[in-house]
Amino acid sequence: MGIEEQGGQKTAGTSTIAPATGKLGVMVVGLGAVATTMIAGVEAVRLGLAKPIGSLTQMGTIRLGKRTDNNTPRIKDFVPLADLNSIVFTGWDIFEDNVYESAAHAKVLDEKSLLQLKPYLETIKPLPAVFDQYYVKRLHGTHVKTGKNKRDLADQVRADIQAFKKTVDRVVMIWAASTEIFLEPTAVHQTIEAFEKGLDDSDIGIPPSQIYAYAALVEGVPFANGAPNLTVDVPAMVELSKRNAAPICGKDFKTGQTFMKTILAPALKARMLGVSGWFSTNILGNRDGEVLDDPQSFKTKEESKLGSLDFIFQPELYPDLYKDIFHKIRINYYPPRGDDKEAWDNIDIFGWLGYPMQIKVNFLCRDSILAAPVALDLVLLLDLAKRTPSLRSLGIQEWLSFYLKSPQTAPGLYPEHDLFIQSMKLKNTLRHIMGEGLITHLGLEYYD
Ligand SMILES: NC(=O)c1ccc[n+]([C@@H]2O[C@H](COP(=O)([O-])OP(=O)(O)OC[C@H]3O[C@@H](n4cnc5c(N)ncnc54)[C@H](O)[C@@H]3O)[C@@H](O)[C@H]2O)c1
Repeated sequence: MGIEEQGGQKTAGTSTIAPATGKLGVMVVGLGAVATTMIAGVEAVRLGLAKPIGSLTQMGTIRLGKRTDNNTPRIKDFVPLADLNSIVFTGWDIFEDNVYESAAHAKVLDEKSLLQLKPYLETIKPLPAVFDQYYVKRLHGTHVKTGKNKRDLADQVRADIQAFKKTVDRVVMIWAASTEIFLEPTAVHQTIEAFEKGLDDSDIGIPPSQIYAYAALVEGVPFANGAPNLTVDVPAMVELSKRNAAPICGKDFKTGQTFMKTILAPALKARMLGVSGWFSTNILGNRDGEVLDDPQSFKTKEESKLGSLDFIFQPELYPDLYKDIFHKIRINYYPPRGDDKEAWDNIDIFGWLGYPMQIKVNFLCRDSILAAPVALDLVLLLDLAKRTPSLRSLGIQEWLSFYLKSPQTAPGLYPEHDLFIQSMKLKNTLRHIMGEGLITHLGLEYYD
């Protein structure tokens, strides 16, 4: 009991969270559409040219105490987050283009805005990448590292991290590179020892994303995964994350269609309305769309997108409503639209006495405009987690599921996909680490 609706006394001491002093180094794997839109956006905000719209950490507030207390600070004033002015970006890509050139190629931001940011953006030049076309069929990398085995490549990434660490105070890594082919965990992913032997043997089960992630975690650097790749979703990486106090979270930025799904599906379920079919299709013309045109990369994305409905609807608990949902997802590469994705959902639902109805959703979105603030928030919150003693050695930061299509959880736990449960979990985690009471929305005390 406690504050309103709330679950408890003040919970933890704030004094133990290390302050966000000095520079936060952000190492971005893949300087494509999402990454350059994030970097350009941060610079635009720093120069006072734009507002950080879509970023919960920058624009969001958090209520503390009772509704009658009128205490709703901004999240960035409540928790000790790194200031945008303290961020230093670097990254890797398989092409040599600097961030200005890559952003111009991605055509997400208009020429006029990009020109204003050009002096800064062209200073960020990619380091040579770890790349193997076996894992991303549609790309031909030219700016790549070579090494005698995967261990050698991991050591080179570690050397990049160590060099960058000398110039900043803290480091976070985020994968904003392409979607790799679908991979399932094998023996090489089960323990740290097996994984390290796999690096020596250049095991085929270890894709580039795992080489970067391994390097980050060994260096104690938090790692976020914006793509649906397997990467840290295996026991060896979870163990490494805990051992080195390097937080990880789920995967695949939750931005367009799945964002809508995880809003609508909980609403239908809350009212016990049935669903017989959910057909989702997309047209997309950027490089991500081109990569996803390869069936093996599409399979990775499809698995990530399919998961949410099953977990939200819990058909085993509600067989009359959700047992036989026909759920289909398509992504079609359609170059004329570039980054401006269009998504359609047709949802066949049924109500009282089984009478059928339909819902149509047509989301004309901008993929990277939606993803950039998500990427920024993940970076800032992982840095916070790393500075927070009660979070940093947990490994998986489930409270960051809010941002991801495929939340990662402790073994045996089902993931929470409902956006509003995720939002509550995130905010309660912030209240918890700052020693504030948790809010449960019970609220009976107002009527005593
Ligand atoms: N935009 C969204 O709404 C959204 C949502 C969820 C997930 N994602 C994922 O985010 C990722 C980035 O999307 P994008 O639109 O920026 O794609 P993009 O193709 O524009 O950028 C990806 C970049 O990664 C580079 N790259 C590929 N493999 C690499 C490697 N091994 N090392 C270093 N660089 C490498 C490519 O050269 C490219 O520049 C994709 O995996 C995409 O599926 C995007």
